[in-house]
Amino acid sequence: MKVLITRKLPRVAIDLLLKNNIAVQVHDSDEPIKFRELVRYGKDADGILSLLTDRIDEKIINRLEKCKVIANYAVGYNNINTKVAKAKNIIVTNTPDILTDATADLTLALLLSVCRRVIESEMFTRSNKFTGWQPELFLGIELKGKTLGVVGAGRIGRAVAKRAAAFGMNIIYFNKSKKTEFELELNAQKVSLTKLIKKSDFVSLHLPLNSETHNLINSKKLELMKPNAVIINTARGEIIDENYLIAMLKKKRIFGAGFDVYQNEPKINKQLLKLNNVVLLPHIGSATFEARSAMAELAAKNIINVLKGLPPITPVEL
Ligand code: DGY
Repeated sequence: MKVLITRKLPRVAIDLLLKNNIAVQVHDSDEPIKFRELVRYGKDADGILSLLTDRIDEKIINRLEKCKVIANYAVGYNNINTKVAKAKNIIVTNTPDILTDATADLTLALLLSVCRRVIESEMFTRSNKFTGWQPELFLGIELKGKTLGVVGAGRIGRAVAKRAAAFGMNIIYFNKSKKTEFELELNAQKVSLTKLIKKSDFVSLHLPLNSETHNLINSKKLELMKPNAVIINTARGEIIDENYLIAMLKKKRIFGAGFDVYQNEPKINKQLLKLNNVVLLPHIGSATFEARSAMAELAAKNIINVLKGLPPITPVEL
């Protein structure tokens, strides 16, 4: 049996597969695998360990002759055409839970960075502009007492809310289903998306990207934000109307925004680079040693299980 790993990732995945007598073909590079190579090496592979940067679309899936499992090295799986995979009896798995804390931590890091202008201040200091303490140097926004609107109260959204509560924030959330335990634990209140955006000082997105969430935070919704609001996106860029948000940031219509993901990733809108009321990160939500290694292990275990005829640990529910 053979598995294609589409990018260099923590060694634990390869070791686990080899230990289970599964041959491994690694696209050993820091660059995404090209379509041609994906087809060439994926064609006779029994499983594929893919990344969120690999577009596993209908064209690719139809060329996979032996594949039984596609294990995505991410919790999001919008890069895979799961309908076509299902029709071909290919199991798709993802890596939930183990990256929840890493992503929630980064969300708070972004929120704090935007509110307290950490990057701007750091650049100022680094460029030798600090000439002494000043009463109004880099004034920012305090977190305590503010309202955080969590859009999507799944694992990551709830972990963000927990951290926010420790900072003294009030929590409101938008989610399809009511999360009673979460409400009781954090005194969180379920509201409509419109109400959430109107009432929140900080809006944080924690939804998967799909046809329902694509452009969910459109111009109409963005216009409802409070004048001093901050929006943080560690989910997927396509959930927000990025151009409209940039126009609002340019006009200082809101206080700021924190981006870990972008609409045309990895391309970043040039206008964003010119703004100083944004913090821009290169999609590092789950980038801790702990999370990335656990993700590699889980992805490999999912493949091993499927190839042994056992149920996968974390299948994507279709
Ligand atoms: C995911 O797992 O979907 C994240 O975006 C990776 O950081």
